[in-house]
Amino acid sequence: MLIQNVPTPAILLDKKIMEENSRKMEELIRGTSMVLYPHYKSHKCPELARWQMAHGAGGITCAKLGEAQDLVEAGIPVVVIANQIVQPEKLEKLALLAGKASMTVCADDPDNVLALEAACAKAGTRLNVLVEYEVGMQRCGAETHAEVLQLAQLIRRQSHLNFAGIQAYAGQLSHETDAARRKTEMLRIEKDVAALKAFVEMYGIPVRHVCGGSTGTAADKPKDTVYTQLQAGSYLFMDASYERLGLVFRQAMFILTTVVSVKKDRIVTDCGVKSLAMDQVPPRYAAFPDAALSFSEEHTTLFVKGAPLKVGDKLLAIPGHCCTTNNSFEKILLAESGEIIREMPVTSRGKAW
Ligand SMILES: Cc1ncc(COP(=O)(O)O)c(C=O)c1O
Repeated sequence: MLIQNVPTPAILLDKKIMEENSRKMEELIRGTSMVLYPHYKSHKCPELARWQMAHGAGGITCAKLGEAQDLVEAGIPVVVIANQIVQPEKLEKLALLAGKASMTVCADDPDNVLALEAACAKAGTRLNVLVEYEVGMQRCGAETHAEVLQLAQLIRRQSHLNFAGIQAYAGQLSHETDAARRKTEMLRIEKDVAALKAFVEMYGIPVRHVCGGSTGTAADKPKDTVYTQLQAGSYLFMDASYERLGLVFRQAMFILTTVVSVKKDRIVTDCGVKSLAMDQVPPRYAAFPDAALSFSEEHTTLFVKGAPLKVGDKLLAIPGHCCTTNNSFEKILLAESGEIIREMPVTSRGKAW
C-alpha cells in the first residue's frame, strides 16, 4: 500500500533508518564486553524482537511478565525481566516460563528471593536472578554493597535459583541533555558498579553479568566497561526527547496523520494524546518544527498561518517518547520507498501486568 493511502493515525517505521540505527548501535558496542539485550518496552512487537535477535542481540530485556510470556511464545530463547515480580500468581507463571526459555528476573528483597525459590521448586524449574543495585534513579534496588552481597549469598543458597549478576540501570542519566554531566556521572557509576562486582567476587561469588544502560548512555560507556548486557530500547526508533541529546541515531519512527480541518490561523490533524504520548517532551510535526501545538484526545492543532495544505493532506509527527507511543497502536507499519511493506502487530501493547 502507498503511504498516502494508509488510514491514520498510524505508526510508520522507516526500514532503512531502523537498519542504520541497528548498525550504529552495533558499532558503538563493538570491542566492549557488552552484548545488546534490547528493551522490548520500546516496541512490544515480537516480530521486531525476532529481528533484533537475528541482528546480534543476545536476548531480549522486558519489564513485565505479560511481555515475557509473549516473547517466549514468539520463540525468543533468552528473556531478562529487568524488574521485580512479586505477586503469587505471577510468580507461578514466571516459574513455568523458566521451563520454556532461559529466564532472568531482578530481586532486591530477601522475602521475594524466597518466594521465587518456592515457585520454582513447585514448578520444578530453575530461574536466573539478578540483584538490582540502586544507582541514583530512586527506583528499585539494594542500596549498599553489603546488601547486594547478602542477597547474592541468599540466592546461591537456593536450589532452584542461579545468581546471575547485577542489574544497575542509571535511568536518571538517559535523557540528561548536559553531555559532560552525563558522561561524568556515567563514569562515576561505572566505577562504583565495578567496585561492587569486585566486592561480591572477593567472597567467592562470580558476577557473570552486569546489566543496564540506555540509548542515551551507550556512547558514554568506557571501552573497558564492567557492563555485559546493554538494555537500550529507543535507539531503533528515536523520538523528540532523545533528539535533544544529539546522538548518532536518526529518527526512524513517525506518526502519519491526516489534516482534517484548515483555518486561517491553524491546521488540525486527526491525532491527539490517545496516539501521541506526552510523558516526556511533546511530539512535534516534521514539516512545522517551530509551530505552537495544542493537543486534545483525538486532535492536534498546529498554529500556522497560510500553510499550503488542504483537508486530506498527510503530515508526519515525531513522537515525544517512542516507547509509550508504540504502546498506543495495534500495529507498526514498516515503510520503504514510499510504500508499506509489512504490518507488524504490537502484540504486547497494554500488557502492563
Ligand atoms: C531497565 C531499563 N533498562 C534500559 C532502559 C533504557 O531504554 P531506552 O534506551 O529506551 O532509554 C530503560 C528505560 O525505561 C529501563 O527501564
